[in-house]
Amino acid sequence: MHRGRLITVEGIDGSGKTTHIDHIHTYLEQQNISVIRTREPGGTEMGEALRDILIRRVDLAMHAETELLLMFSARMEHLQKRIRPAMESGTWVVIDRFIDATYAYQGGGRGVSMDRIRLLENWVLNGLEPDLTILLDLPVEISLARTKAREQARDRFELQDREFKHTVREAYLERARQNPDRIRIVDASAEIDKVKQEIWKTLDMLVEKEHDRI
Ligand SMILES: Nc1ncnc2c1ncn2[C@@H]1O[C@H](COP(=O)(O)OP(=O)(O)OP(=O)(O)O)[C@@H](O)[C@H]1O
Ligand SMILES: [Mg+2]
Repeated sequence: MHRGRLITVEGIDGSGKTTHIDHIHTYLEQQNISVIRTREPGGTEMGEALRDILIRRVDLAMHAETELLLMFSARMEHLQKRIRPAMESGTWVVIDRFIDATYAYQGGGRGVSMDRIRLLENWVLNGLEPDLTILLDLPVEISLARTKAREQARDRFELQDREFKHTVREAYLERARQNPDRIRIVDASAEIDKVKQEIWKTLDMLVEKEHDRI
């Protein structure tokens, strides 16, 4: 049996990750591919508890490197308990944010050294790389307009200023420039249906390759 593929979906708030992960999940199931969807930080009981601290607890001040370490703690748990076992059993895994988000938010946004992040990546991921990353790219102004309409209280990252969000977007784009074969940039300001078509085209290619493997 071949190992399951790993697909990650990245982008700033309101770029459409949740919307399109629903579509990706449905699409893969229609192709008779066994698939699970999950998110970071989170995806395990422990990870979700850390997510609460990292995202919801706006009252907690935290050093940027503490934030980085907690993100990787949640990721280690996620990899050990869910991602690797699923992939090893042939199941595909679709994640709402993964390693590139760390480079974008903690590296770009918070200014933690990229070398430190790489050090932790080497340890925790141990060579694992997503097979495909969809980067939903969106100007900060549109992101703010989309998230403003929400009822939910704003989280620790949503509370950051425009400049922070802009830096995160730029760091994501830089990751895409450095990993052109893996990261597919999709214009997330286009209409939902157009974005969906774009993603499907990319997925078709991956699924075709999969059929060639069998
Ligand atoms: N291409 C689009 N055009 C217009 N509106 C969109 C588009 N994509 C998503 N939206 C809307 O923007 C809002 C945010 O989308 P969604 O929740 O999927 O983003 P997200 O990336 O998951 O955000 P978060 O990071 O905050 O979870 C939703 O109301 C969604 O319907
Ligand atoms: Mg979402």
